[in-house]
Amino acid sequence: MTIREIQSKKKHKKKISAVTAYDYYTAYYASCAHIDILLVGDSLGMVVLGYSSTLPVTVEDMVHHSRAVERGANGPLLVVDMPFMSYQTSPADAVKNAGRLIKDGSMQAVKLEGAKGIGRKIKAILNAGIPVMGHLGVLPQSVHKDSGYRAKGKSSHEAGKLMDDARYLEDLGVFAIVLECVAERVSKKITETIRIPSIGIGSGKWCDGQILVSHDLLGISNSKRPRFVKQFAKVGDTMLNSFKKYRSEVLRGKYPTRKHSY
Ligand code: KIV
Repeated sequence: MTIREIQSKKKHKKKISAVTAYDYYTAYYASCAHIDILLVGDSLGMVVLGYSSTLPVTVEDMVHHSRAVERGANGPLLVVDMPFMSYQTSPADAVKNAGRLIKDGSMQAVKLEGAKGIGRKIKAILNAGIPVMGHLGVLPQSVHKDSGYRAKGKSSHEAGKLMDDARYLEDLGVFAIVLECVAERVSKKITETIRIPSIGIGSGKWCDGQILVSHDLLGISNSKRPRFVKQFAKVGDTMLNSFKKYRSEVLRGKYPTRKHSY
């Protein structure tokens, strides 16, 4: 999947499917299911590494998991999050770290959170020939500045700012924008206004595409679920029951049998 193919889906009114992936088999199965975009999200920090936010995630972490995803993927566009403090410091740092994620992580594009405050960094990355995906609405890397993760765009002031920011990112040259927890009427307006695809998470049905954290949609994570998450499976329960059965069979000498032995 190329950026042109992703963008042409919007033109042809075809929805875009995206999920996060952090490892080989998730990338493999998501590819088999013809998912359009795999995002190596910095949500890695929470759902894989067990941190309480995305802030501790490093460029090394992202390169390590990107490589695994690239080995398992076959088809989807591969996008990676630039982690906290890998681009905020200067345009030079932004280009250097984006370059690492593309060269060493084998990704096709990077995603950055924010708009005008990081405009020079986005421009520098684009000038280096690296495609950028934008991210507006709830910005998990600004969790302390924003005092938590609160939906955006409910007031007319916030709605206007989101619309301005979306236009600004489009003018800069990003190829798509993730809208995280943006009020539905605002994400609809943005989607109708910009020519590049909007990819929603918790932002309603009018976006050009949807993305979910794979651990949430598979039912692996057991933390409090945001309202927008739909569980399409209960993989966490399956894991728990399988581990219990295995332990019980080992303790009772029921596993292994002769058929499992050499
Ligand atoms: O890190 C992540 O999983 C993300 C998605 C929420 C879009 O940025």
